[in-house]
Amino acid sequence: MKVSKKVVGVEYAIRDIVLAARKVEQKGMQVDYLNIGDPVQFGFQPPDNVKQALIDAVNNGNNFYSSSEGLLELRQEIAKKENAKGLSITADEILVTNGVSEGLDMVISSIVEEGDEVLLPGPYYPPYASYVRLHGGIPVEFAVDLNNSTPDIDDIKSKITSKTVAICLISPNNPTGVVFNEKALKELVDIANQHNLYIICDEIYDQIIFDEKFVGIGKVARDSPVIVLNGFSKVHLMSGWRIGYIAFNQSP
Ligand SMILES: Cc1ncc(COP(=O)(O)O)c(C=O)c1O
Repeated sequence: MKVSKKVVGVEYAIRDIVLAARKVEQKGMQVDYLNIGDPVQFGFQPPDNVKQALIDAVNNGNNFYSSSEGLLELRQEIAKKENAKGLSITADEILVTNGVSEGLDMVISSIVEEGDEVLLPGPYYPPYASYVRLHGGIPVEFAVDLNNSTPDIDDIKSKITSKTVAICLISPNNPTGVVFNEKALKELVDIANQHNLYIICDEIYDQIIFDEKFVGIGKVARDSPVIVLNGFSKVHLMSGWRIGYIAFNQSP
């Protein structure tokens, strides 16, 4: 069947490996799938109170469409969480999505025009490049020093062109585990402001931290056009529930 040009550009190597793995599995070999960051498939479960709340909601007849921006009560709690990390926003700046994946799709489709460039921290979670391509943009990778967790500022500066519209950050990062410190985040916000770029920051692993200290982009965002992506798949062990959100940093 004919496939649109924009979809042909979308590739995801990890999914290709899964197809190959399934064929091997069909031949009777045991395959351990480590391709997906899904703690729930490996013995972890959502908190009991959250599971009970879902059961109660279904039994109490709350099976209708919710408001398109998400339940007010949920958005208020999300705003509290993001404000504790450094933002200063209200429920009105939160949009609840079907996971960070849908949030990313919405944000990229809203800001990328044909031929626009989006800077991504190398290496990055592959859907970032897929969504940029899907919406007609060009993903441009910038270097990150994996030994000391710092973005290569000179490399970023050299890659900003008149077509650049956004810098994406993933902190803590999948797949590298890199967590950007406050100084690095501030430098990134400053560069973005100098060039009128959005900062899109994925903080879905914000509470899965080992040696490093997590600092939210909100702490250094001031009145910059920062868009935070986050959700409940990883930290709250609710990958199958498909709940995420976009938090827009408020303009003064
Ligand atoms: C960095 C990052 N962002 C987003 C996602 C997907 O999140 P969600 O389940 O909320 O769509 C993942 C999942 O692996 C991820 O690693």
